[in-house]
Amino acid sequence: MPTKSFFHGADWNPEQWPEQVRAEDLALMREARVTAATVGVFSWSRLEPTPGVYDFGWLDRVLDGLHDHGIGAVLATPTASPPPWFTLAHPGALATRRDGVRLVHGSRDTYCVNAPAYRAASLRIASALAGRYARHPAVRLWHVHNEYGTWCFCDHCARAFRGWLRARHGTLDALNDAWTADFWSQRHTDWAQVLPPRATQYLGNPAQELDYRRFLSDSMLAAFAEQRDAIKAVAPEAQVTTNFVLGGWVPVDHARWSHEVDLVAIDHYPSSLDGVPAQSAFAADAARGWSAAAGHGGSWLLMEHAPAHVTENGVQRRKPPGMLARTALGHIARGSQGAMYFQWRASTGGAEQWHSAIVGHSGPATRTYHEFRALGETLASEGRAPSCRSAYKKVPFQTGEAGSPAAGAGDRGVAVWFDEVCGWAVGASHLPAPLDYQGVVEGWHRALWRHGYPVDVVPPTATLAGYRVLVVPAAYLLTDESARRLDEYVREGGHLVVTYLSGIVDEHLRVRVGGYPGALRDLLGIRVEELDPLPPGVVVTLDNGDAVTGWTEHLTAPDAEVLVRHAVGRPAVTRREHGVGLAYYVSCALDEAATARLLDGVCAAAGVAPILPGLPDGVEAVRTADGVWLFNHTDEPYDIAGRVLAGGTVTRLPHP
Ligand code: GLA
Ligand code: ZN
Repeated sequence: MPTKSFFHGADWNPEQWPEQVRAEDLALMREARVTAATVGVFSWSRLEPTPGVYDFGWLDRVLDGLHDHGIGAVLATPTASPPPWFTLAHPGALATRRDGVRLVHGSRDTYCVNAPAYRAASLRIASALAGRYARHPAVRLWHVHNEYGTWCFCDHCARAFRGWLRARHGTLDALNDAWTADFWSQRHTDWAQVLPPRATQYLGNPAQELDYRRFLSDSMLAAFAEQRDAIKAVAPEAQVTTNFVLGGWVPVDHARWSHEVDLVAIDHYPSSLDGVPAQSAFAADAARGWSAAAGHGGSWLLMEHAPAHVTENGVQRRKPPGMLARTALGHIARGSQGAMYFQWRASTGGAEQWHSAIVGHSGPATRTYHEFRALGETLASEGRAPSCRSAYKKVPFQTGEAGSPAAGAGDRGVAVWFDEVCGWAVGASHLPAPLDYQGVVEGWHRALWRHGYPVDVVPPTATLAGYRVLVVPAAYLLTDESARRLDEYVREGGHLVVTYLSGIVDEHLRVRVGGYPGALRDLLGIRVEELDPLPPGVVVTLDNGDAVTGWTEHLTAPDAEVLVRHAVGRPAVTRREHGVGLAYYVSCALDEAATARLLDGVCAAAGVAPILPGLPDGVEAVRTADGVWLFNHTDEPYDIAGRVLAGGTVTRLPHP
């Protein structure tokens, strides 16, 4: 069962502050109607100052203090940052880079997740915390570790990798086959020859690299599960999660991990200020998709995001007035059980001393604190946060379930397929041209989002039935099972849009020969003979006037209708009827306006309408069971459905 607490709060690091500041923090949290603070994330060296010797006194006071103020705790295990003593006691348990350099402490995440000493030390501290606090009345949720995603290439990892490969491939012959080991004389004749993808002379083996990511994901998942089980052994009813961090560098398969957590939780840091609404919508829709596909009903939690800034090309840009509340409520409308921040109070020193906080270096007399407190009032008026004077009570969450994809089941609008493992494959450096997989997926999502269509982001394991339209962008790696499910989806009436660079390789990155996209050729009724990516600056036009940059292909359409051609005559966009559905192929990279025009046509044919037609650009609608939320991301006031929506504000309309 997903936890039903509501989370309005932040990461708090009381160990960095004297008692007097902690007391001020608790009073301010209370004033801002905080429901939960995340504590203990990086506290290992305080909790276990020397091996096996614990100091829990300060954390007792912190948790008691939170509870006395009616505030819940998200209690972390501190295993993302082993103390300096760990380095000296277990030098062989530190992370080793691809080039063989063994790292030492000085930052965070300096450990090998496969080192027995690290696993044992982690389990010990997690069990000690569970034993002491599992029944503490403040604890609402356990936050194991922090942002799993650390790479290592050491001998522990090499040993564990071989075991993992044996389980996956069975025999050495099967491994050689899967890795196409006859290329460049890489055939292994003994398991001892099999290594992690360490630094090598030139391009490495892409299949080895992909398996290594899968292996690291499973290694970290095992480490997570060990801690989770230790907590549940003491308190079976405990809710346990970890905070996912998104990004191509992270070797974590979040769709798979979502089955192992009690609540899907993500951290989110957009890469540009202007991109905040669309990037937040994408991350939120992806988290909801992982939650729904893993059987959690679509609820999830935004565990960390920055309160006051967005780092854009290395520059911290200050969020404009109103963005704090719009972003928080946007996530909540999309199914998050609240909105948590990194961080409560800005550190005076350390590597993140310039990271924004609810309470900055200058104290609480800032716009950020003021906006955060006002958000607390809004949430309280909605019944989600406690009122100032009432004691803490678990606040039932309604909008999360409402915002979940279950809303309107049977008529679920549009889904965008997002497969992180495929993204790892596309990220390899040997493709015909570099392609940003997540960027492509986000581009299709953004076009749908901008035109106000109801959209979910779904992993390959999601239930597809009920979506009228499914967009599958750049699904370079597609398993037989996924291809079969896409075929079935169309046969039963779905409208499928597949883009360039899809269905090309199997799960071992072996090309499906006979014309791309091998896995979907029959379904789409086309045959791509050659890929033809374009260098930067080259623009190609289509016969409808649309412009293409970045990617084109040369295809024939033996069993499909050609909807759009290149100006030179060859097919660009095709459509085929299959069963009672339609399968489109978009063989080239359209710009956002052309993508949106194409999707308008696809959606109209499939009977999907925008949530509120005709919204001005910059005004976003999110449909939930308790109404349609409207977000005005512009500075202009607009008259919408008989109401004035002031610039920068949020309102909710009842369902018509
Ligand atoms: C993530 C991490 C935090 C912190 C922030 C910085 O949320 O979990 O520890 O590093 O990023 O943005
Ligand atoms: Zn290692």
